[in-house]
Amino acid sequence: MRSFLFCTVVCCSALQALPPGLHTEESKVPDFVLPALFPEGTSAEDWQKNLRAETLALFEKEMFGVVPAIERKGTVELGRKVSDFLGGKALLQEVSISLLGDEKGPKLNLLIVTPAAAKGPVPVFLGLNFKGNHTVHSSELITMGEDQKAGRGERAARWHLEGVIDRGYGLVTAFYGDIDLDENDGFKDGIHGAAESPEKRDDSSWGSIAGWTWGLSRGLDFLETYEPVDGSKVVVFGHSRLGKTSLWAGATDERFAGVISNNSGCGGAALSRRAYGETVARINTSFPHWFCKNFHAYGLKEDELPFDQHQLVALIAPRPVYVASAQGDQWADPKGEFLAAKHAGPIYQLLGKKGLGQDEMPAVDEAIGGTVRYHLRSGKHDVKVYDWEQYLKFMDELIR
Ligand code: GCU
Repeated sequence: MRSFLFCTVVCCSALQALPPGLHTEESKVPDFVLPALFPEGTSAEDWQKNLRAETLALFEKEMFGVVPAIERKGTVELGRKVSDFLGGKALLQEVSISLLGDEKGPKLNLLIVTPAAAKGPVPVFLGLNFKGNHTVHSSELITMGEDQKAGRGERAARWHLEGVIDRGYGLVTAFYGDIDLDENDGFKDGIHGAAESPEKRDDSSWGSIAGWTWGLSRGLDFLETYEPVDGSKVVVFGHSRLGKTSLWAGATDERFAGVISNNSGCGGAALSRRAYGETVARINTSFPHWFCKNFHAYGLKEDELPFDQHQLVALIAPRPVYVASAQGDQWADPKGEFLAAKHAGPIYQLLGKKGLGQDEMPAVDEAIGGTVRYHLRSGKHDVKVYDWEQYLKFMDELIR
């Protein structure tokens, strides 16, 4: 009874805060049929050779946008190095990557923290942050980032840095605005404007999520060359809009060893056809720059999308993927996130791996799955210690 009451309260408060026309009521979810992952009789080889690329191309053209040909002459400058970081248990290295090899172009400033006691290269989490590298830990040794309004360590609770180091892994992060500021500015600034004139853009040109994703791959290029890190064990991590980004990064760059998508919601792991919480129409109104223009046409026409988000999760197969929801984050549609993880399962099976392994949503704070994992954490839209405990286990069991 108590848990029923709690659920009612959560749903009602989410409902009150929702803009007109949007809902978080299961009874209002329309009937829908999900597009098939693959035609009957598809072999693992057919998927790997043709169908995967076809699915990826659809997401590119209709949702995230196509990245133009960019000559990759990025130059790297090693910055601050601290060999006794975190009281001696970690090595800190800052690195600045000129993304276009042009002093005036955007620079990705990576903060790399690895365990000092490591006997060899370590697996790492690579994730963009919202407010600057200095917000992920309170240490004054971290260079103050662009957004100086944010205080040191302001977002430390979301990063669990010391817990990651104590477990023998590294953490690599950069401010997402280094690649593209999160503004609807006609793609004049950031990587888009620097790589291509805005006049050349068309309805399938890349949006901000594709820009952030491209930047993550440039971070990975460097990590492959950086000795303390095992470049074949880089797991891309992201929360919320950056959880949408981590899924797309895992889909577009198969060098990522795994993907963690925390509370990613609409445009991330949540199925668009459920139209529960944030919808395609709504996201394209509030954040028109995140996706390509073609995606805008699917507002209130989710049924016409040539895919749904279970196929985005499927693009990560056979690599490990973690989709995480929060019970108080109804805007992101936890059930839709669960269903996308579940319905990606057949691809994992086709490729010899285990999907979620159960059809029903697990209880709150119960982690489930094989190579595809899922949990519904209690509490709000956020990244908490509970989430990190599961991600560390994911690292231990599937990556290390
Ligand atoms: C908004 C947006 C979500 C997004 C979130 C975030 O709530 O509607 O789609 O995930 O911001 O990134 O914080």
